[in-house]
Amino acid sequence: MKRVNRIKEVKDLLASASRRPVGFVPTMGALHSGHISLAENAVKACPQVVVSIFVNPTQFNDPEDLKNYPRNIEADIDLLSTVLRENDILFTPGVNEIYPEPDKRVFAFGNLEKVMEGEHRPGHFNGVGQVVSKLFDIVRPDMAFFGQKDFQQLTIIRELVRMTKSSVDIISCPIVREKDGLAMSSRNILLEPAIRKEAGIIFRTINSAAERLLKTDIPTLKREVRVAINSTPGFALEYFEIADDAELKPLLSASGLIPGRKYYACIAVRAGKIRLIDNVEIPLV
Ligand code: PAJ
Repeated sequence: MKRVNRIKEVKDLLASASRRPVGFVPTMGALHSGHISLAENAVKACPQVVVSIFVNPTQFNDPEDLKNYPRNIEADIDLLSTVLRENDILFTPGVNEIYPEPDKRVFAFGNLEKVMEGEHRPGHFNGVGQVVSKLFDIVRPDMAFFGQKDFQQLTIIRELVRMTKSSVDIISCPIVREKDGLAMSSRNILLEPAIRKEAGIIFRTINSAAERLLKTDIPTLKREVRVAINSTPGFALEYFEIADDAELKPLLSASGLIPGRKYYACIAVRAGKIRLIDNVEIPLV
């Protein structure tokens, strides 16, 4: 793979190779098997792949989180070289390359950014919209690969594509998990050992809640999830919602299920000082 830091270099490499379809995997680095699975899917589907690593300051609502966000470019390069081919591109721009001046654009994501992550991380999805639209403009991909791990982000990106009349095909890839069910995340290495040991509780709890949705009313389910998480030392529930992937409207009762839609049990948890999110699809038979 070729590593470049400048927008012009990415554009020149893509123009001279002119292989299509171009597959794109945007990341913030500190790569793990979840990211690598996206790159593998891209390599399978596209003769030309671009992976970006850019810790995007505009999507961090908490300056401490930005400061502490893990950065490990050498290990990232090692991991990516096991997947990417000679002609694939690793794009690692600096902040000034992406934001030579402040990005003042405001995206109208409506309700999609008012619930769950949007409600708890004000401005986060606007920042995601800013960076992803800029990266799409640079790479001009035919297909872009995103993880189901960031369920709400996927819906936002699909809306961004619709709003900007872009033709990029958004491919959603399954969540890669650790043995105990914890969804892989760059932030997992920041977990204190005692907290990491118990962190499988997050997946176990939403999985069991998802299985019980049709048999239990939602307020009871929510109470049970809160108790399960909050009774684990060091863990505190931020939110638990059942939402569909089109409108992300929190479901208040199983009678509100709209046929033909997929529903997800979504959770955000404080695990010690670290904030983790996860989701599972609700099995509806
Ligand atoms: P980041 O958190 O680095 O994630 C990059 C991509 O990897 C996202 O599409 C995310 O959903 C996916 N991913 C993360 N953990 C995963 C897992 N356990 N299994 C499968 N996929 C996983 O998401 C971002 O970066 C940023 O918001 C970004 C889109 C790059 C914009 O800055």
